[in-house]
Amino acid sequence: MNMSSRISLVRALEILDSRGNPTLKVTVALDNGVSASASVPSGASTGENEAVELRDGDRKRYDGKGVLGAVENVNRAIGPRLVGLDPTRQAELDRFLVEWDGTPNKARLGANAILGVSMAVARAASQSLNIPLYAYLGGPGATRLPVPMMNILNGGKHADNSVDFQEFMVMPIGAPTFAEALRYGAETFHALRSILKKKGYATSVGDEGGFAPNLKSNDEACEVIVEAISAAGYKPGREVAIALDPAASSFYEDGAYNLSKSGQGRKSATEMTALFSRWIERYPIVSIEDGLAENDWEGFRQHTAALGQRVQIVGDDIYVTNTRFIARGIREKCSNAVLIKLNQIGTVTETVEAIEMCRQARWGYIISHRSGETEDAFMADFAVAMGGGQIKSGSACRGERIAKYNRLLEIEAELGKSAGLTNPFAT
Ligand code: PGA
Ligand code: ZN
Repeated sequence: MNMSSRISLVRALEILDSRGNPTLKVTVALDNGVSASASVPSGASTGENEAVELRDGDRKRYDGKGVLGAVENVNRAIGPRLVGLDPTRQAELDRFLVEWDGTPNKARLGANAILGVSMAVARAASQSLNIPLYAYLGGPGATRLPVPMMNILNGGKHADNSVDFQEFMVMPIGAPTFAEALRYGAETFHALRSILKKKGYATSVGDEGGFAPNLKSNDEACEVIVEAISAAGYKPGREVAIALDPAASSFYEDGAYNLSKSGQGRKSATEMTALFSRWIERYPIVSIEDGLAENDWEGFRQHTAALGQRVQIVGDDIYVTNTRFIARGIREKCSNAVLIKLNQIGTVTETVEAIEMCRQARWGYIISHRSGETEDAFMADFAVAMGGGQIKSGSACRGERIAKYNRLLEIEAELGKSAGLTNPFAT
């Protein structure tokens, strides 16, 4: 262990994400011989206020999606400025990068360049101190494993079917450990595959590993999931519950929610809330994320007033992990939980600040992947470090999703008896 180690080299490389699009892998080397890397994820249904992912725009390479400019920013600009600095001074380092960038959305250096450096610095520091990443970021109290929200069925812009809502997730809230939660979720996923097959539906999977069968309605999606939970041998609602991410910004058109795929027509925010209210009665739903669109603050306020006592109301696109928007949400009571994505804001420190704001308000927070991911499991350690008890990392298949779940299995085993998993909705 060398407490006074310094950064000796920072290098970025253009790699591919799980969709085959370019992203960055950043490696930070220290003068004590430690070297650590981190890779940056990428969303598809991004919020309009997210930090900027710098892309080359050169149509001759990857249809303009290359990140050689961001790589250059790391190798030629950021890297040399960090050499000689102490990697354990994460907040100072992150703040330096944010101020240097100088734009409100990291458009100059690129949030992808900055986040890659920020995460790799954290990992290098933890390795240098010989402490696992979750313990380095979360301290000795970081022993709470997260309950996974597993996206097993897709509609919306992610599927060619008659389902308007983007994600139907299962949440094994009744499991005693993370390993058991993962097993409940994976068995439900396998049961769902058999049920879909029997009904003659396709069982190929989408970007996050969920099925995208040609279901006839939004209701049928909930019905086949309840059937799958039971078929896997679990009690719907008690052991395995449903979480939704309608991603409503994607079907908000000219002041109304257009449920065109299911043929239900245009609905107001109030009508959407009434629809969710009926669903909560009918199906074992515990959480609704982005039930309304990202700029519909007043709709979110009424939606939370109507449903917030019964289920978790999560804001994703509306907050984009940014304390400026989360503070407004808290002031106006627009939800009672926040979806947390490191790359929506662009540094580890600012992400921790967003979570701290949630804690102060006694709101929930869920550490989330993006639909474009890599094999990097940074967010698994981060979820345990932050201790919110919830993680969203896709279905029970696809290597880049499983990498996070497998890392959580390792962490749970390493923590041994001190590891804990609790139902985030138990009162
Ligand atoms: P994205 O979608 O990663 O493509 O933005 C995930 C979500 O909406 O939660
Ligand atoms: Zn979302």
